[in-house]
Amino acid sequence: MVGTAAVSVAAANAGASAQAQSTTATIDRHSTQVSFTVNGTRRELTVDNRTTLLDALREQLALTGTKKGCDHGQCGACTVMVDGRRINSCLSLAVMHEGDEITTIEGLGTTSDMHPMQAAFVRHDGFQCGYCTPGQICSSVAVLEEIAAGIPSHVTEDLAAQMQVTDAEIRERMSGNICRCGAYANIIAAINDVAGRPA
Ligand code: FES
Ligand code: FES
Repeated sequence: MVGTAAVSVAAANAGASAQAQSTTATIDRHSTQVSFTVNGTRRELTVDNRTTLLDALREQLALTGTKKGCDHGQCGACTVMVDGRRINSCLSLAVMHEGDEITTIEGLGTTSDMHPMQAAFVRHDGFQCGYCTPGQICSSVAVLEEIAAGIPSHVTEDLAAQMQVTDAEIRERMSGNICRCGAYANIIAAINDVAGRPA
């Protein structure tokens, strides 16, 4: 009996050990170390492979300026810029951004040294609750850069002509940024202001 018990204990220990190894292996298999630059600072972090860029920014780097609205790519609250192009960070995995340059709302300006677009949003009262605002501002900055770079939108009529900032272009290009407070008119005024157009 003693011998049988010893065999049982040994078998149980072996089973536990195998389970522990398998758990450890699973954790390793599902995690990746990734390194990218956020607002000018190099960051290295270990992420679960399923972690979105949005969650990595908010939960691991404590950059909570970028908001989670829908988490499904439908509201634009999570907009950040990656290598100068705006993206919905809720739809992008953190592990896809090795070596990338990421700019969040915190990287555009501070309360004492605002980015011109931030200042224009304040001047034109381009927000109410403010939840969508970081995404609106990141998107607005990128929209003017897209127009300056000659990147057409769905409403661009003449692809050969110099790209112009118009209300129609702004509305179309900002259509992925939803504001439940309905601050759209003032957001357009703020963008026009930064673009040097009469607001
Ligand atoms: S939270 Fe990403 S689009 Fe809504
Ligand atoms: S300011 Fe409230 S959602 Fe846009």
